[in-house]
Amino acid sequence: MTDSAVEAHFDEVIARHDRIEPRDWMPDAYRRTLVRQIAQHAHSEIIGMQPEGNWISRAPSLRRKAILLAKVQDEAGHGLYLYSAAETLGVSRDELVDNLLTGKQKYSSIFNYPTLSYADVGTIGWLVDGAAICNQVPLCRTSYGPYGRAMIRICKEESFHQRQGYELLMTMMRGTPEQQEMVQESVNRFWWPSLMMFGPPDENSPNSERSMAWGIKRNSNDDLRQKFVDMTVPQADALGICLPDPSLAWNASREHYDFGEPDWDELAAVIRGDGPCNAQRIEHRRRAHEDGAWVREAATAFAAGGEIGD
Ligand code: ACO
Repeated sequence: MTDSAVEAHFDEVIARHDRIEPRDWMPDAYRRTLVRQIAQHAHSEIIGMQPEGNWISRAPSLRRKAILLAKVQDEAGHGLYLYSAAETLGVSRDELVDNLLTGKQKYSSIFNYPTLSYADVGTIGWLVDGAAICNQVPLCRTSYGPYGRAMIRICKEESFHQRQGYELLMTMMRGTPEQQEMVQESVNRFWWPSLMMFGPPDENSPNSERSMAWGIKRNSNDDLRQKFVDMTVPQADALGICLPDPSLAWNASREHYDFGEPDWDELAAVIRGDGPCNAQRIEHRRRAHEDGAWVREAATAFAAGGEIGD
């Protein structure tokens, strides 16, 4: 096929909302955008293991510990599916890991906030995984095949994560006044950062228009944020939790909830690396990577046909 024919084929696949596959021709900028988004997404899953991993050794019961262990392990799996999807675009795993550790690629702002009580495990499941689901279900229909297929499995697991968080919070809200206070305090800290997960407002989102035209993103940041608020307010009412936003109110004419403006300067600072836990998260990840060097060496030697201990 000629250059113009392959380009026309690409445009036609995108226009009919079908999938581009790894061996198909694609514009360089489309490939770069995918590598950027999928890598950031993978890094978020890997760094996202830390805030909750913090509580594994202090879970209040064996049941809660088993649930939390399984959940954190799922996040590692999500990171690996996504690194594999990014690798189909011609980047290596080593390069991606290096880009995370040297700060060349980003990861989600939300994982730079500390987890101060066990209620945070429930709040992260309910709000953070709830926001992740809102953002990621449309990505099951993204235009790049390997990314969309990874997202289908990830979303199924995320919905378990969201439900375990809701169930944990429901249990605590039926508990003592101290437990109820713990939940409210946790939600007060995580509400606004959860809204920021969807990214800057549409008018300040430099990538959205192009990514939506290519079918990489299916919805804008603000549309997904609104969807999340609409979904979450009735759940907060059912839990008996007060969301910390005095502007939150049903708007009958829009048929959506109105809500206040997140602190966009705070989001910019966290993305820049100046959030409460950015340095700690990367330092921990770097140490874990160094500590795991012998495992990578052993696996490489084994794959090359050597014996362990050679
Ligand atoms: N945290 C960190 N960086 C962010 C965030 C955030 N919450 N929101 C936006 N950014 C970054 C973007 O990556 C972009 O940076 P870059 O151009 O230097 O790479 C910049 O801010 C401007 O934002 P947008 O133009 O809106 O960027 P984009 O179109 O990529 O939209 C979004 C951002 C919505 C996060 C998109 O990339 C996406 O949907 N990604 C897939 C989902 C994902 O990564 N989720 C991770 C958290 S969920 C979880 O792991 C449980």
